[in-house]
Amino acid sequence: MSNQRAPTRRRFLGVAGASMLATRMGTAPSLRGRRAKVRLAVAGGGFGASHHWHEHPDCEVTAVTDLVEERRQRLSRAYRCDRVFPSLEDMLDRARDTFDAVAVFTDAPSHCTHTLMCMEAGKHVTSACPVALTLEDCAKIKATQERTGLVYMMHESSWYRQPCIAARELYRDGAFGRLAYSEVEYFHPGIGTRTNPLSRWRGTNSWRWGFPPMLYPTHSLGLLVGVTGERIVRVSCLGQKVGDDFPGGGDNAYDNPFDNEMALGHTNRGNICRFGVCWQIAAHGERGQWLGEKLSCFMPGSAGQPQARRGVDGGWEPWDVPDYWRTDRLPEPMRHDSGHGGSAAFLSCEFVDAIVQQRRPTCDVYESIAMTAPGIVAHRSALQGGALLDVPSFDP
Ligand SMILES: NC(=O)c1ccc[n+]([C@@H]2O[C@H](COP(=O)([O-])OP(=O)(O)OC[C@H]3O[C@@H](n4cnc5c(N)ncnc54)[C@H](O)[C@@H]3O)[C@@H](O)[C@H]2O)c1
Repeated sequence: MSNQRAPTRRRFLGVAGASMLATRMGTAPSLRGRRAKVRLAVAGGGFGASHHWHEHPDCEVTAVTDLVEERRQRLSRAYRCDRVFPSLEDMLDRARDTFDAVAVFTDAPSHCTHTLMCMEAGKHVTSACPVALTLEDCAKIKATQERTGLVYMMHESSWYRQPCIAARELYRDGAFGRLAYSEVEYFHPGIGTRTNPLSRWRGTNSWRWGFPPMLYPTHSLGLLVGVTGERIVRVSCLGQKVGDDFPGGGDNAYDNPFDNEMALGHTNRGNICRFGVCWQIAAHGERGQWLGEKLSCFMPGSAGQPQARRGVDGGWEPWDVPDYWRTDRLPEPMRHDSGHGGSAAFLSCEFVDAIVQQRRPTCDVYESIAMTAPGIVAHRSALQGGALLDVPSFDP
């Protein structure tokens, strides 16, 4: 859970390092016996073209792919990489020896298929959120990661937003006392509607057309799992359809009637968490508030609420969160205010470091599924009018 960079960072993997990795994490054949600057391939030239792996001193982008020419060019320019492929499948087929890891930034419904395809080819994977859209697919990814020992990490921006880092460290230091109640939310008005530009892609409906909010729960749950490490074990969720422009029910690929979903979850430590995702609401962004016995902390809110904290006896005070991205937690070239609340460079760095240092990443397969699976069950609950449902455990 720490954000500190390892004090003696191993910059290169030799044969001995690769053997240790093989023993501890399974086999990583592509790293054996050579100097290991991580060679990364990037799939998906939308959000996938805006990251920072190439700024890490131990990483180079050696291949890029998208189905669409314009996006291939965008990737090529962003990462200064001229090995360009027309699809992930083609890249794995023709060039698999030229990369060790893949950043899977394709559409959310393809994450499971593409992640499994890459891991079966022996590649470490960082996947855009969410892990998958069904519990069955989460189980397949967990089983494949455990069998192969490859690094798997979901690229969840909430985890490395600066207030989330600060809250995680306060929690680790016991400052909250018991952190009894959290509220974590993600609001993004217009997603999935007929008229939103993201809903249509080259003349057809995109994967976002009518997308169920709770199948995208990780920006919310990152602010719980990324702070306390808790698991949602039971959940009840309500859904609603607010906007006329939202193509509900049979008018979308998910048979989804809802554009807003809000859930109440019970955690494995007996605490309560309200988590939600809304596509039709006059508010925007990710927000957490963490209420403990001794301390409560509040991220700034859509209504202009300040970033604040308060103890049991004291009044409100500003909550000063450092710009962690300015510090030596990142390699020097990555110390800039990257996207999504300063999180993007941290995520790129963590994936590369985990491979080089032969360790699990912070958002490993278990944490990633803990941010994904409760949303899948919450959506099921909403379809059943708020039924209280158990969330299965995917932990080892
Ligand atoms: N804050 C965040 O963490 C954040 C923000 C935006 C998007 N995302 C996630 O990132 C992912 C990508 O988002 P987006 O907005 O770029 O989506 P998008 O649909 O615009 O782009 C996906 C791209 O993947 C490409 N693709 C699909 N199948 C492919 C294949 N077989 N081979 C090569 N390329 C393939 C498509 O051509 C497309 O360009 C999504 O899963 C989304 O949920 C996360």
